[in-house]
Amino acid sequence: MQNFSTLDASIYPLCLGSNTFGWTSDEAESRAVIDAYVEGGGNFIDTADNYSWWVDGNVGGESETIIGHWMRDRSARDRVVIATKCGRHPDFLGLSRSSIRGAVAASLRRMETDYIDVLYAHRDDPTVPLEETAAAFDELRREGSIRAVGLSNYSGARIDEWMRIADANGFARPVALQPHLNLLFRREFEADLRPAIERYSLAVVPYFGLASGFLTGKYRSRADIDSSPRASMLEVYYSDEAFAAVETLVDVAAAHGISPATAALAWLRVQSGVVAPVASASRVEQVAGLLESTRVELSPEELQRLDTVSAALPVGGEDA
Ligand SMILES: NC(=O)c1ccc[n+]([C@@H]2O[C@H](COP(=O)([O-])OP(=O)(O)OC[C@H]3O[C@@H](n4cnc5c(N)ncnc54)[C@H](OP(=O)(O)O)[C@@H]3O)[C@@H](O)[C@H]2O)c1
Repeated sequence: MQNFSTLDASIYPLCLGSNTFGWTSDEAESRAVIDAYVEGGGNFIDTADNYSWWVDGNVGGESETIIGHWMRDRSARDRVVIATKCGRHPDFLGLSRSSIRGAVAASLRRMETDYIDVLYAHRDDPTVPLEETAAAFDELRREGSIRAVGLSNYSGARIDEWMRIADANGFARPVALQPHLNLLFRREFEADLRPAIERYSLAVVPYFGLASGFLTGKYRSRADIDSSPRASMLEVYYSDEAFAAVETLVDVAAAHGISPATAALAWLRVQSGVVAPVASASRVEQVAGLLESTRVELSPEELQRLDTVSAALPVGGEDA
C-alpha cells in the first residue's frame, strides 16, 4: 500500500479506472469488475463526473452512479478511496467556483456519499482566474466535501502557479497529479512535469496505463485500431516504433509468464513518483492481469530494454 502524504488513507498501487462503466461495460459487468478488484485487494477507484457522456443516450455521471450503487449495496464507502474529477461535465463545464460547486454536489448525490477522497481539476481552464479555482477547491476541502486536491492534465508552469496561489492564501496544496503517461507516451511527462513533481512531492497517478489497450498487444495493425471502439484514443500511439515497442513488451512479458498488459503496468508502477497507475477493465476476466502487475518485479535489464524502446517513440507530448 502507498500513502498520499496528506490524505489519511493507504492506497493500493493499482487504481481501477472507470470510464468503461456505462460504456464498454454495462452496470452488471461494471459491478463485477469492482467486486473482482476489491476482492483482489484493491481499494482505489478513479472516476470523473463526465464519464461516460460520449456514449449515445448517456448524459455524464453514469460511472459515478454505478460506483454509488456498488458502494451502497456493499456498504463499502469507508473501504474504498474514491477519486473523481470536475470541469468537464456538460452541465458544469469549466472551473469557475459555481461550476465546481455544482459539479461536486452532483457527484456526491450520484455516489450517495458526503465526501470525495481526491477531487481532481480534470483539465486546466485558462478562462477562469486560477485564484478563483484554487479557492473553490480549498473551500470544499475546509467544508469536508473533499479530502484532497488533485490536478490532471496541467502543465508544469500551471502547477507552479497553483502552488504559489495556495501558499500565498493558506490553501492546502494539491497532493496528486494525474497525467497521461505510459510506455508509449512519456516525453511531455519527463520534460515538463518531472521537475514539478519533484518540487512538490506530488503523488503521480498516471492515466491510460495500458495506452487504451495498445499495450495489451491486441492491436497489431492499422485495421485493428480502426475497428476498436477506442479508435480515437488509440490513434495517438500509432507508429511503426510503437508496434516495435509492443514486440519488446511481449518478449519481456513472456519471460515472466505474464500478459503484456501486466508487464506494461509493472513498468509504469516503478517509474519515479508513480504511486498507482490507473487502468480499467471492460470485462471481469481482465481484472486479474491488472492486479498481478503489483506483484511483478521487472529486472533492471528488462526495465532498461523497455526504456530504450520507449525513448525511440515519435509521440509523447504533442497531442496531450
Ligand atoms: N484524467 C484524464 O484526463 C483521463 C483520461 C482518460 C482516462 N482516465 C482514467 O484512466 C482510466 C484508464 O483509461 P482507459 O480505460 O481509457 O485506458 P487503459 O487503462 O489504458 O486501457 C483499458 C482498456 O484496455 C483493455 N484491457 C484491459 N485489460 C486487458 C487485457 N488483459 N486484455 C485485453 N485488453 C485489456 C480494456 O478495453 P477493451 O476490452 O474494451 O479493449 C480496458 O478497458 C479511465 O478509466 C479513467 O479512469 C483519465
